[in-house]
Parts: sequence; structure tokens; C-alpha cells
Amino acid sequence: MSQSVTFECVSKSFEHRGRTVPALDDVSLTIDPGDIYAIVGYSGAGKSTLLRTVNALERPTTGSVFVGEKEISSLRGKSLLSARQRIGMVFQQFNLLRSRTVYKNIAYPLRLAGLSESDTIDRVEELLDFVGLSDKALQYPSQLSGGQKQRVGIARALATRPDVLISDEATSALDPETTLEVLDLLKRVNEEYGVTVLMVTHEMDAVREIADKVAVMQSGRVIEEGSASSVFSDPQTGTAKRFVASVLRHRPDPRSLSTIRKVHTGRLVEVRVGDRESNDPFLSRITREHGVDFNIVYGGVSESKDSLFGRLTIELLGAGPDVDATIAALRRATDVEEVAA
Ligand SMILES: Nc1ncnc2c1ncn2[C@@H]1O[C@H](COP(=O)(O)OP(=O)(O)O)[C@@H](O)[C@H]1O
Ligand SMILES: [Mg+2]
Repeated sequence: MSQSVTFECVSKSFEHRGRTVPALDDVSLTIDPGDIYAIVGYSGAGKSTLLRTVNALERPTTGSVFVGEKEISSLRGKSLLSARQRIGMVFQQFNLLRSRTVYKNIAYPLRLAGLSESDTIDRVEELLDFVGLSDKALQYPSQLSGGQKQRVGIARALATRPDVLISDEATSALDPETTLEVLDLLKRVNEEYGVTVLMVTHEMDAVREIADKVAVMQSGRVIEEGSASSVFSDPQTGTAKRFVASVLRHRPDPRSLSTIRKVHTGRLVEVRVGDRESNDPFLSRITREHGVDFNIVYGGVSESKDSLFGRLTIELLGAGPDVDATIAALRRATDVEEVAA
């Protein structure tokens, strides 16, 4: 069964060499059951610390963390151990036991949970099949590729049938092709087992491919949050804009802009396209209505899990008042930003 994860006013600071290091500053977030939720942000933003409060590897200094109805941050001892079996974790560095076979790595949490030998065998075989490694059961981690190691890590995290999977930069140590395979596997975990997935990543492509929602963190705070497509198509903060721009080449950077300007000396505007609810050809309609011509000089449209979104930079050509009226009409139809001359 999938569960929600709720952070209520979570703050955390570390004592380090006699100084107080703030890591989380009043974070409140709700992850709906069954969602794939991504957390992005620069190094040191507090992403790992936030994730680690979900299975109480870190405890908030103040505030609470709930998985479903259960307040994880207040559990101790046996009740914490049993709650942790409902929360799987996947790590960047895989964290496999080097001296044990693939089979034994996956069986390890099942033995801790007290499962019988024959149930363990059945469950491990099922998991090996799910992650596509049935033929590697008796190999050791050192005999596997990075992507295979991470698939073992995911199988191990799923062993005790968790409701929530937390994943800290699971694909950061992998090459781009293997990254896609592992992301695909996380998506299948979510779809086929209904597991809520909370993942930290610095790859916005990963977010774009599989996330339902995304939060952007900076200095221990959540500075932006929403559906992946809304954060991509309309980022509000500087940090989110930089993250989005790093993967989507929808807006010209200063260098492209100076190339554009060598030829296109008219008024330039950026218009949002792609995520519209009708097929109204607003660009040609509005410019025609005002007797203005346009050139498309830059732009792109991308796909997220559930929608299309993009931006076009266009040059408007016509008499000054007609161009002004065109920009006003475009603003009524979509998001428009004028590009400084
Ligand atoms: N165990 C710790 N002891 C002291 N400081 C820590 C510890 N863990 C994290 N921090 C500090 O907390 C802040 C957030 O760290 P972290 O959650 O790892 O960020 P991120 O995962 O976004 O890179 C950083 O300033 C980091 O140095
Ligand atoms: Mg981290």
C-alpha cells in the first residue's frame, strides 16, 4: 500500500566542532501517496538531511515527520525498526555488502525481518526477476556493473514490501544510458507496486522523465514546489530558473542572444507555448490582427510526465504602436517576457 509522507515545520541543525550548522529550516511538505516526488537543489541545500528524516536516520531538532499516520520522528526502539521495514532506501554508492552474493544482499533485510527460509527464497527470486538479474544471484557485487549494482540496491530496498521508497542520488554514479535504465526501474516500482517514491536528484532530466511533483531546496528551505510541468514551464525563483535552464534549451543565454541580435534588431519577446488547452493559433492570429510580422529566433518544446511545455523567442516587426498592441494581446493569451534590447 502506498503512503503519504508529511514534513511538519521540520528544522534540523548539527553541532560541528562547537558550532551550530543549520541544515533544515522550517520545512513543511506533503508527498501524496503513490506520487514520484523529486527534491532538487545545489549541494549543501539540505536534501539528504531531509530524506534521512523519513526513516529517522536523522531526527528533526524541531518539527515532525509522518509516514502515513505514523509519526516516524517520535519512534524509538522496536517500533522504529518495524516502521523502517515499510521504508526502503536507495543510495548513490549502492551500499551493498561486498562479501555477500547478490542473493544474500537482497535476502539480508528479510532475515532481519524474521522471514522463513522458503519464503525468503521465493521473495528474492521474485525480486531478481523484477529487476532483471535472475542470472546474477550467485555473483558478488564486484562482478557487476554500476547499473546492475543499483538494481540490486533497489531489489534490496523493496524486499520487505515498503510503502515508501527514498532514493538519494541513486543515478549520480552512473553513466547516462544506465541512468535511464535505473529511472525506468524506479518508475516501474512506483507503477507496479504502488510505492510512493521520494527522490533527491541533481539531474533535471530525471525529474522531467518521471516525477509528478518537484520541490526546489536552498539553504535548508523549500523555495519552490509544484507539479513538475509547472515548475519547468514557469519557474519562479532564480535557483529554479537556473536548474530548469540547465536542461531545457528553451531560452537564449547571453551568448545566443548576441548571435541573434546580429540579425534580429526588432523587438524580441519570449512567449510560453505547448501547455495550452486549445488549438487556437494565437501567435499568427494576434500578429495578423495587428498587422505585425514575426520571426521565430529561438526556442523549444519539451515533454514532462503529463504535458508539453516550451518557450519561443520571437522578433516582432511592425510600427511601434502595433507592436505594443500585439504584446498586450499576447499577454492576455499566454506568458510573455520582453527581452531587453
Ligand atoms: N552529520 C553532519 N554533521 C554536520 N553537518 C552536517 C551533517 N550532515 C549535513 N551537514 C550539513 O548540513 C547541510 C545540509 O547538508 P545535506 O543535507 O547533506 O545537503 P545536500 O544533500 O543538499 O547536499 C550542509 O551544510 C552540511 O554540511
Ligand atoms: Mg546530499
